[in-house]
Amino acid sequence: MVSVGIVGTGSYVPEKVLTNFDLEQMVDTNDQWIVSRTGIKERHIAAPETPVSELCYQAALRALEDAKLAPEELDLVIVATITPDFVFPATACLVAERLGAKKAAGFDLQAACTGFLYGVATAAQFIATGIYKNALVIGGETLSKILNWEDRGTCILFGDGAGAAVLQPVEEGYGFLGYDLGMDGAGGSLLAMPGGGSMHPASAETVAKKMHTIQMAGSEVFKFAVRIMGETALKALDKAGLGIGDVDCLIPHQANTRIVDAAVKRLGIDAGKVVVNLDRYGNMSAASIPVALDEAARSGRLNYGDIMVMVGFGGGLTWGAAVVKWSKRGV
Ligand code: COA
Repeated sequence: MVSVGIVGTGSYVPEKVLTNFDLEQMVDTNDQWIVSRTGIKERHIAAPETPVSELCYQAALRALEDAKLAPEELDLVIVATITPDFVFPATACLVAERLGAKKAAGFDLQAACTGFLYGVATAAQFIATGIYKNALVIGGETLSKILNWEDRGTCILFGDGAGAAVLQPVEEGYGFLGYDLGMDGAGGSLLAMPGGGSMHPASAETVAKKMHTIQMAGSEVFKFAVRIMGETALKALDKAGLGIGDVDCLIPHQANTRIVDAAVKRLGIDAGKVVVNLDRYGNMSAASIPVALDEAARSGRLNYGDIMVMVGFGGGLTWGAAVVKWSKRGV
């Protein structure tokens, strides 16, 4: 098997910022409540005319530039999203077309907030087996378009953005060392958008009932998240033959600082090694981990040889973790 690593990263968020103070004007909430319960201060929101493919395209351009790779060289494009431009065609097709990735295969992948981790794990298999050389994995979301802006329990949590990573063969022993992926369909209704699929096709009734928006049992998801983050990270480390003491950098899904803090405490990892940017972006679902990864890489937090763990959870329920020995030199 060929060693596979991340050779370029990129991210993009829309210009418009929605602060907690802006939200105070929209629903019965306040900055103090949101910051103390979630850690979120502001989030970016896409313009009504901006689809997720635009955010994905911008993030992809930056990742390809970072990897010094021409789009024509791409063999595979995977977009992880729960807010595709259309049910079909896949957003991956739209992004590949705009990039000019003429020879690439591609598809969308849906594992909610764990989507990027499922995406890199999938892409890495094609490279490890020698089938492909260059893969682009994007996590992108326009969650603002599936929020009920009258529901203060959900609309304060989420934001829009996209992050991307280019995967290639890397020096032996570097790159992805271990994964853990899981799901539990029994918890599916805890975090879902019930309308618009074949169970409840769009109708005047589904729109009136706001079934095309995120519905969430917040405290149930909270408990699940705290438990699973530690479990899945340790399993992935175990598969890599490593322990928590070997980790130089932890990139968790950016849902809530209380979830991250509780998981960090359970894992017993130094908080200084944990990347947190959710105060500026909120929860961007599949985009959260790749945006945080890009910021960590560009700010010099990831150095050649570092052991980095990405860990996430989300609707499905799904979860996952990936252990990476960083193979890129310099910032
Ligand atoms: N502003 C002010 N008050 C709010 C509020 C808001 N935005 N949202 C809820 N409240 C109120 C509730 O109505 C409730 O009032 P009550 O006690 O009078 O009924 C009170 O605050 C406590 O609500 P509760 O839901 O118990 O709060 P919580 O501490 O569990 O925090 C979440 C709520 C959503 C922040 C928290 O459950 C959470 O983060 N869950 C995980 C969500 C998540 O990460 N989802 C995505 C996973 S990928």
